[in-house]
Amino acid sequence: MIRAALRGVGSALPKRVVTNQDLEKTVDTTDAWIVERTGIKQRHIAGDGETTVSLGSEAARKALVDAGMDASEIDLIIVATATPDATFPASAALIQRELGIRTGTAFDVAAVCSGFLYALTVASSLMETGQQKKALVIGSETFSRIIDWTDRRTCVLFGDGAGAFVLEAEEGDTGILSSTTHCDGSLSHILYVDGGPSGTGTVGHLRMDGPKVFKEAIARISGAVETCAEKVGIAVPDIDWFVPHQANQRILQGVAKRLKLNEDQVVSTVAEHANTSAASIPLAFDKAWKDGRICKGDLCMLEGMGGGLTWGAVLIKV
Ligand code: UT7
Repeated sequence: MIRAALRGVGSALPKRVVTNQDLEKTVDTTDAWIVERTGIKQRHIAGDGETTVSLGSEAARKALVDAGMDASEIDLIIVATATPDATFPASAALIQRELGIRTGTAFDVAAVCSGFLYALTVASSLMETGQQKKALVIGSETFSRIIDWTDRRTCVLFGDGAGAFVLEAEEGDTGILSSTTHCDGSLSHILYVDGGPSGTGTVGHLRMDGPKVFKEAIARISGAVETCAEKVGIAVPDIDWFVPHQANQRILQGVAKRLKLNEDQVVSTVAEHANTSAASIPLAFDKAWKDGRICKGDLCMLEGMGGGLTWGAVLIKV
């Protein structure tokens, strides 16, 4: 069977770090509250000239170097983002331009924090059916630009960044083994942006009923992970690494506990990056890839949930 095999990983973060102590000076919050309720200690925030496209391009370049591949070989770019540089062209087209590529397919996927899982699922389907050979799948976000910086319930939670995978279609038993994606639009009102080109003609701000989202998260995410494992006939604890969307340390721990995973199987970057939406999974993956935790042959479970509500999981053998 042809599968989408992982060839390289890369990531990019804005230069500026904003700590919880920095936020204590601008909103009615404390480092103690943020750490206790979320596990977040700091986040990277994009400055002038740092955008979804610039961060995504940097992550893509690093992933190509990691893969030992030239940009000209890429015939598919999918960017998962809810914060594109422009309404159109797609950020994927703009990143393609930055990389000097002029052929192939490039488009964005809008599934918010589950976007990277959706993008991997679409890419692997296109590769398994022989339509595309070499893909860049990128999660890139600048949520700082849609945050209401006066709303302490949301502004402490998010950060900016990008991560990228290079995938190559290959016969064999490594690569993306299974995936599952879901959406329940009846819950769109608990996590949304109150603006948009057609609805209001404005960019808008992120609005979230955090406790309601929290309540939905653990059961839905665990179910998706179990489905993904069942599809290939393994038990969830048999995976090597659990690389979740980094929304809240309590959610990560709750899901891991429910799935009977050990804490040392969980890759967590929520303390350093906060919630970077579609970028959080590849950012966390890149950290564990570069520091030598994730190795060739390892089974990695990726999962997440976000606005839509959307959620899903992807099982990949490195
Ligand atoms: O990536 C997309 C998916 N998103 C998520 O998965 C997020 C899911 N939700 C969460 O992670 C949590 O619900 C939050 C971290 C957002 C909030 O934690 P919580 O334990 O659910 O707190 P809460 O919203 O119930 O608020 C508890 C109290 C409230 O005060 P009162 O009403 O009890 O007096 C809030 O006003 O904490 C207050 N509060 C804060 N206090 C200090 C809310 N935000 C802050 C803050 N600093 N930043």
